[in-house]
Amino acid sequence: MTSVEPKSVKILTIDDEPGIRETFRDFLEDLDYEVIEGENGRHGLEIFKKELPDLVLLDLRMPEIDGLEVLAKLKEESPNTPIIIVSGTGVIGDAIRALNLGAWDYILKPVVDLGVLRHSVEKVLDRARLIQENLAYQENLEEQVSKRTAQLHQANAEINDLNKQLEARVAQRTIELTAANKELESFAYTVSHDLRAPLRAINNFTKIIIDEYTDKLDSEGQLYLQYLLEGSKEMNSLIDGLLTLSRSSRGEINSEDVDISKIVVDILKAKTTLEPTRNIIYTVMPDISGRCDSRLIKTMLENLIGNAWKYTRETANSHIDFGVKQENGQDIYFVKDNGAGFDMAYVDKLFKPFQRLHQVTEFEGTGIGLATVQRIIHRHGGKIWAESEVDKGATFYFTLATDS
Ligand SMILES: Nc1ncnc2c1ncn2[C@@H]1O[C@H](COP(=O)(O)OP(=O)(O)OP(=O)(O)O)[C@@H](O)[C@H]1O
Ligand SMILES: [Mg+2]
Repeated sequence: MTSVEPKSVKILTIDDEPGIRETFRDFLEDLDYEVIEGENGRHGLEIFKKELPDLVLLDLRMPEIDGLEVLAKLKEESPNTPIIIVSGTGVIGDAIRALNLGAWDYILKPVVDLGVLRHSVEKVLDRARLIQENLAYQENLEEQVSKRTAQLHQANAEINDLNKQLEARVAQRTIELTAANKELESFAYTVSHDLRAPLRAINNFTKIIIDEYTDKLDSEGQLYLQYLLEGSKEMNSLIDGLLTLSRSSRGEINSEDVDISKIVVDILKAKTTLEPTRNIIYTVMPDISGRCDSRLIKTMLENLIGNAWKYTRETANSHIDFGVKQENGQDIYFVKDNGAGFDMAYVDKLFKPFQRLHQVTEFEGTGIGLATVQRIIHRHGGKIWAESEVDKGATFYFTLATDS
């Protein structure tokens, strides 16, 4: 603990006995303190206001104003100035009262051992210094806190700015990306569309050659023409698929309440009419509805049901089920079959264009149907996934909006 330098300390001694004042002054000045004097309570108060001492030695028994009253006034004037009561043994009760009123210490008169005075003065000054330091520390702390708070506000404002910039950049990128996507879509659309006419010509002329020039060709030549015809047919379905895919990505989504069960039943009925020999048992949960674009949902379901229909072709007692279940408050629609199924190891390929998990010799197809299905579901803000096991059928699940 560093003690207070006496030279810088001004002590006021208030006592009506000049002898005591003198003793104190001599003693304290010897210790290098600056000493000023108050001859009585009233005078002491005047000097106090004028000189603002660092410490007061206060007698309790004085004429005019009583020491306790002086103490109260001093406290009022400067609550943090240390006051030591100098009291006669007869007024010890007053000394205790003075301590309660805020005096810092007391010493008894007559002060036979001035070492007691010195000890009390040093003790009180040390305490005052500690209090002062503590106050300064508190102030500094508050200053630091408000500085930090300001820095934090500043940092927050910067983060907000950065976020805004980021949002603006994301928005800009999204606009650019949407434009690029649109361009790509219309390019894909135009290309597939424009490919149709020359393909039709190839197809037609091949047919004419087959119809009118067969006798001029040997059997090998005729076989090649058959291959040509099949190739152009395959290309035609590829173009069809591409056009459907790109149509599914274009245009607005017209959301409305759609009777999905009805669409499923219509598709299955149409398929049965086209292939009456297929003996398929189907179960469609009635009255399933959802908010979606009816045209796109129809295309999507045509693909899912088309697959279920196709991949149950080799299965005895084929079943196709359509329904909905609830999970975490969300509608999960499903199309389930008991057909050929597929190996879940390749599930990642399922929704990619032109990726197939079956050979064309087993099941015909171009591998674009599920890409279209996924595109439509995503445009509705939904999800699609599948579960399957080879020879045990496949179930395709989809949602229409990511509510949860
Ligand atoms: N219900 C299903 N059961 C078993 N495998 C399926 C089923 N649905 C899809 N698949 C597998 O996923 C692949 C991709 O399906 P997708 O519908 O995209 O193509 P595709 O049916 O082969 O051809 P298309 O473009 O004519 O629809 C299929 O080739 C098939 O291997
Ligand atoms: Mg398909």
